[in-house]
Amino acid sequence: MTSPIRILYIDDYPFDRELVREALKKTGECFKVSVAKTHAELKMMLKKRKFDLILSDLDILGYNGLEIIDYIKAKKLAIPLVIVTGTGSEEIAVEAMKRGVADYVIKTPDHIKRLPLTIKSVIEKKHLQDKQKRAEKQTRQSLKEKKVLLSEIHHRVRNNLQIISSLLSFAGDQIHNKKIKAICEGAKARIHTMAMIHNILYERKRFDKINMKKYIQQLLAYLLQIYRTEKCPIEYKINCPRLYLPSNNAIHVALILNEIISNALKYDFKKGDKGEIIITVKKSEKNTIYFSIMDNGIGIPEDFDINKTSSLGMRLINSLVKDQLKGTLEIKKEKGTEFIIKFRITNNYL
Ligand SMILES: Nc1ncnc2c1ncn2[C@@H]1O[C@H](COP(=O)(O)OP(=O)(O)OP(=O)(O)O)[C@@H](O)[C@H]1O
Ligand SMILES: [Mg+2]
Repeated sequence: MTSPIRILYIDDYPFDRELVREALKKTGECFKVSVAKTHAELKMMLKKRKFDLILSDLDILGYNGLEIIDYIKAKKLAIPLVIVTGTGSEEIAVEAMKRGVADYVIKTPDHIKRLPLTIKSVIEKKHLQDKQKRAEKQTRQSLKEKKVLLSEIHHRVRNNLQIISSLLSFAGDQIHNKKIKAICEGAKARIHTMAMIHNILYERKRFDKINMKKYIQQLLAYLLQIYRTEKCPIEYKINCPRLYLPSNNAIHVALILNEIISNALKYDFKKGDKGEIIITVKKSEKNTIYFSIMDNGIGIPEDFDINKTSSLGMRLINSLVKDQLKGTLEIKKEKGTEFIIKFRITNNYL
C-alpha cells in the first residue's frame, strides 16, 4: 500500500473547504488533508508537521491576493504549492506561477474535479525533480572524487619522474666518459620535460588540456638552465596565442620541443655570437596546430637527412611527429635551422 499524500490545505472559508474536500474524496487516491483555518494553525502546522504538498486559496488569513505565496515561499520548505482560486483570472494565475507556484485550479464545481489529478502530477514532478537533484549531486560528488584521484596520480607520476631524473643525475656524477655522461644528461632532460607536464596538470587541476604558452616558457627556462654555457648570450622569443592542447598531444609536443630546443642550445651557437631562438605557435580554423622553432645558429649539415639518421634525438622528433601526432615535419636550412611541425587536434581547445 502506498502512503497517503500529506496535504496542508489553507482556507478560512467553510464553503470552499467543503468543495475541495468533496473533490478529493471522489477519487480513489489516498490524501491525508490537514486544514489550516487561521494564521496560528498555519504557523503551527508548518513548524510541526511534514507535508508533501501545500494547497492554498488566495485572499486568506488576512493576506491580500498573492501575498500568501510569498509568505510560504519565504519559509523555504521545498514543498510544492498548488493554488485553488475563485477568481479565475488568467493574470493572477500567471503571476502565481511566476512566483514559483507548481499549479493552480479554479474553484468552480466543474474545474475543481481536476484537483486530485493536478495534485498527483505535481507530486510526481517533484519526485522526479528530487531524483534528478540526487543524481546530479551524486555525479558532482563522484566527479570531485575522480578529480582528486587524477590530481594525486599526476602528483605521484611527477614525483616518480623527478626521482628517476635525480637518479640519472647521480649516475651521471659517477661517470667520467663524456659520451655516456651526455646520454645520461639527455635522458634526464627528457624525463624532466615529461615531469613538467604532469606538474602543470597537477597544479591546474585540469587534466584534459595544457596551456602551451606557460609550458613552453617553463621548458625554455629549464633547458637554458641546463644547456646554456657562458659562450654566448641567447635571446628567445615565444609567439604563442592563448592555446590549449589536449594533454596527450601536449606530452608529445613537449618531447619534440625538448629535442629541438636542446639541440639548438647544444650545437648552434659559436662563441661570441648572439644566439636567437624564436618559437611560433599558431592555430588555424581547421584545428591545425602550427609550430615553428627557429634558430640563427650554424645550422644542421646540408646533407643531413632525418629519415636516415641513427641519432636518437632526431629519430625521436621524426617518430613523435609522424607516428604520434600524425603530423608533418619540415626542416628549413636557411640562416640557421627552422623546424616546422603541423598536426591536427580533434577537439577545439581554443
Ligand atoms: N639546431 C641544430 N643546429 C646545428 N646542428 C644541429 C641542430 N640540431 C641537430 N644538429 C646536429 O644533428 C645531430 C643529430 O642531433 P640529435 O638530436 O639527433 O642527436 P644528439 O643531439 O647528438 O644526441 P641526442 O640523442 O642526445 O639528442 C647533432 O649531433 C648535431 O650535429
Ligand atoms: Mg639532440
